[in-house]
Amino acid sequence: MTVTLAIETSCDETAIALIKDQTTLLASTISSQVTAHRQYGGVVPEVASRLHAEIIHELIQTTLNEASIQLKDINQIAVTIGPGLEGCLLVGIAVAKTLATVLSIPLIPVNHIHGHIFAYTRYKSQLTYPTMALIISGGHTDLILMPQPNTFQRVGRTRDDAVGEAFDKVARQLGLGYPGGPEIEKQALLGNPKAFKLPIAMKHTPFEFSFSGLKTAMIDCIAKLDSPSDHIADLCASFQHTVIETICFKTLEACQLKQVNQLIVGGGVAANKTLMTQLKKRCELASIDLIQIEPKFCTDNAVMIGLAATHLGNIYNLEAQNIVAKPNFSYAV
Ligand code: KG4
Ligand code: ZN
Repeated sequence: MTVTLAIETSCDETAIALIKDQTTLLASTISSQVTAHRQYGGVVPEVASRLHAEIIHELIQTTLNEASIQLKDINQIAVTIGPGLEGCLLVGIAVAKTLATVLSIPLIPVNHIHGHIFAYTRYKSQLTYPTMALIISGGHTDLILMPQPNTFQRVGRTRDDAVGEAFDKVARQLGLGYPGGPEIEKQALLGNPKAFKLPIAMKHTPFEFSFSGLKTAMIDCIAKLDSPSDHIADLCASFQHTVIETICFKTLEACQLKQVNQLIVGGGVAANKTLMTQLKKRCELASIDLIQIEPKFCTDNAVMIGLAATHLGNIYNLEAQNIVAKPNFSYAV
């Protein structure tokens, strides 16, 4: 039996998980900093690292208590080393290194994006290759082709804003809270998705996304209204509808061009139920097997980091003493 302690501190969630062998989740805890950052409308890196440092030890203890195990029962530690905010990553790495040294156990560095992909292993242990992963989060909008196990090739990306970033920026324009994605999704349920016509960018450029034009179109649209607050639901529904159309169109096109008939979708924006319902319908029509991840494992968590570590091992070839924060760490191996 192998017990893995997983640590995730790349952005504004301190998250700890304990996993037995490759599959059994013993305990998972998340301390979200959302309320601290809300007043600034986004994550303030220095505040984020301080809050990670304040809570991480207590959170590890809570997670151990939940799983009814002790530190001495842990066999290995997995920690996110990037991509992410450097100061935040350093908090998790420092704690992970210290524990690994004191307990004399291996330390496995994990790429955060591999974490978002490997969250799928909670639902399906085997993939059929080639497969495609769409990672949609606050920092990424990437199409990742996996031609064979443990090979990750970026085939698509956004030219500008990530899709989650667009949700957050539009929400801020509309005076909605942070993070913007869940707020927009809630409002959109009450609105008409066809109320405002917005552009789908890069329609004729496969594999490339762009969301800054859509964000600007939304700002123009809001500026033209006498009383935007009377149209919040319609604005949110129209924006979300355009994002969904863009993601569905571009992702299915990429799968067809790369002759892939399996798709994994992860990252915070994959928690959007309206998006996933639409994507599922389109995938069914195109005979693509869509692997959906439960919303709580789409947004940042440590379970996905532990799962990536147990499935990938140390694929980055880093010795424990060389493990440092890598804010721009590439997942393409
Ligand atoms: O993966 P994640 O938790 O953190 C990063 O690695 O970035 O993703 C956070 C992003 C935020 O931009 C947030 O607004 C978005 O995911 N998000 C959503 C939803 N839940 C979170 N976007 C749309 N709909 C949601 N339900
Ligand atoms: Zn993430």
